[in-house]
Amino acid sequence: MSFSTLGLSQPLLQAIEDQGYSKPTDIQEKAIPVVLQGKDLMAAAATGTGKTASFVLPLLELFTSELQYQVRAKRIRALILVPTRELALQVQGNIELYAKHTPITSLAMLGGLDMDAQKEQLIEGVDILVATPGRLLDMLHRRALHLDELEVLVLDEADRMLDMGFIADINKIIERCPAERQNLFFSATLSDEVRDLVKTSIFHAVELSLSADTSSKSSIEQWLITVDKDTKSTLLSHLIKHNDWQQGLIFVRTKHGVAKLANQLQKRGIEAEAIHSDKSQAVRSQMLADFKAGDIQFLVATDIASRGIDIDDLARVINYDLPNDANDYIHRIGRTGRAGNSGEAVSLVSRDDFKSLCAIESRLGHIITRNDLEDFKPRKEVPISILDYVPKNQRSEIIKPQNETQKSKTQNKKTAVNRNQNSTKAAEKSNISASKKPANSLWGSKKTIWDK
Ligand SMILES: Nc1ncnc2c1ncn2[C@@H]1O[C@H](COP(=O)(O)OP(=O)(O)OP(=O)(O)O)[C@@H](O)[C@H]1O
Ligand SMILES: [Mg+2]
Repeated sequence: MSFSTLGLSQPLLQAIEDQGYSKPTDIQEKAIPVVLQGKDLMAAAATGTGKTASFVLPLLELFTSELQYQVRAKRIRALILVPTRELALQVQGNIELYAKHTPITSLAMLGGLDMDAQKEQLIEGVDILVATPGRLLDMLHRRALHLDELEVLVLDEADRMLDMGFIADINKIIERCPAERQNLFFSATLSDEVRDLVKTSIFHAVELSLSADTSSKSSIEQWLITVDKDTKSTLLSHLIKHNDWQQGLIFVRTKHGVAKLANQLQKRGIEAEAIHSDKSQAVRSQMLADFKAGDIQFLVATDIASRGIDIDDLARVINYDLPNDANDYIHRIGRTGRAGNSGEAVSLVSRDDFKSLCAIESRLGHIITRNDLEDFKPRKEVPISILDYVPKNQRSEIIKPQNETQKSKTQNKKTAVNRNQNSTKAAEKSNISASKKPANSLWGSKKTIWDK
């Protein structure tokens, strides 16, 4: 299969060739025709498999085939919502690359950038807007932008956009969109809960699910090392020096922890910088650019860098601590092993990470290899995980367990009972939400299945 057989025209084929892509990835092959047909789509495919081009290329094709269309001032044709500023800039950068032989215009709208310049660009006319929800709502309230002529709405990292942190903003944005529009949802982790939720208001969406789990992504070699919390930083410095690691993206749960670790590494002569949301956007952008260019060896980051960020051939991801949410682990490690490359994901696990470890290994459906070091043997031992672990706060909400094929029959029997009870409850809740929702909201009622 080639890009030309997917129905893309010459200006786009030229841009694809300029990028050096020889053939479409699986998700591109399946998603592009669906988007070109104007259908709603919910698509899950592993990290680094080219989901961005799966929605950007057909959007550009649809818009270039109607060149007589003139976008009005303060109106846009497509809106792509993303969870972080870095991802907004990256996706818009991708659009520019793919659209370079077409007249289609795009803009990234995010906090931390000059508002006046963005307003002016909107007046001149923008076809595709990539935005974070906060800044977008601000612009809508200032009447600098109207969504009444919107044709396509894309939620990239859709499960993140629909979780508790964003859902209220997303609903406010959707209320301002025309009811008649094309909806596209993309993520590496689209759980059954998210799919069910989407289906309560978007009917007839085509569903694609391509090796959605990183558990099936063999290009990333995962291993962990158990250690006491207070010796993690010494262990990390040892690993970097002893193994002569030249590069790594290091995730830490809190901003404070990020700053502290970067400091400790620097003091030990390791070139490291800290990136988190308290830094100015200019500094954040510069840091990421320097890291991508190889000018920073180790970037210590919060989860602002865990979703969607594409770093060419990143050698390894290091989890200095484990994220609470198993999906975040999948996104974090997915920063390596992209576009057919291989990579390594290393986690430093102490006793207080144990619950997260159980959730992650249950999600993956297998135990992660332990490469413990005698010199760093923890005083507080980390037990071996129980693979059907469900975090306490999710116990009543789970509809289907992940990776059930890999669990033992007994475990399956146990969870199946819960699943049946819970899916009935969730279905009831979804129906209530659907029946209460206002005319044009994705989930009009604030009662979602995430409500506790
Ligand atoms: N057809 C292709 N052939 C080769 N490389 C490609 C192709 N399509 C995209 N890529 C490259 O693959 C990399 C990953 O793409 P992209 O960021 O879209 O992945 P993703 O699936 O959105 O990942 P994530 O889930 O982490 O957001 C990018 O560097 C992109 O340039
Ligand atoms: Mg992506």
